[in-house]
Amino acid sequence: MTDEQLIEAARAAALKAYAPYSNFSVGCAILSVDGDVVTGANMENACYRLGVCAEISAITAAQTKFGLEKVARIAVAGGNGSGAELTGENTVTPCGGCRQAILEAAQLSGRDIGILCASGDGTQSEHHSIVALMPFGFGPNSLKGRGPT
Ligand code: THU
Repeated sequence: MTDEQLIEAARAAALKAYAPYSNFSVGCAILSVDGDVVTGANMENACYRLGVCAEISAITAAQTKFGLEKVARIAVAGGNGSGAELTGENTVTPCGGCRQAILEAAQLSGRDIGILCASGDGTQSEHHSIVALMPFGFGPNSLKGRGPT
């Protein structure tokens, strides 16, 4: 799957978001080392603090479908709109909490993970990696001998 296709999968997932409070729909698509793809979208709640980010939703799906250690590449896209079309010219980068969750997958596999950050309208994208987005992060490696190794 190409980067463009992974971004399109993230944009399509964003249209399934439940984000009536922020009106900001985010989608995330995760590609495994074997070519499997899972997606997720943000899901908000009337109790605002219980909202779930798109990346966490997709990472949970990745764990159940192929396992965190097989996560290879991630695309994130977000903007306004739901149902028909996603708009927005600004690229979306994962929030700090989501970076922490992606770092977990990276350290489990021992590989860096590429992150494609796209705008809602799909016209803009930038490529980052989790190590670049979260240098000196605290992860499974920090608990060597205690956590999963
Ligand atoms: N959001 C995500 O889904 N992922 C991020 O990385 C940043 C923010 C969601 C949370 C909330 O539902 C909405 O975007 C506005 O913050």
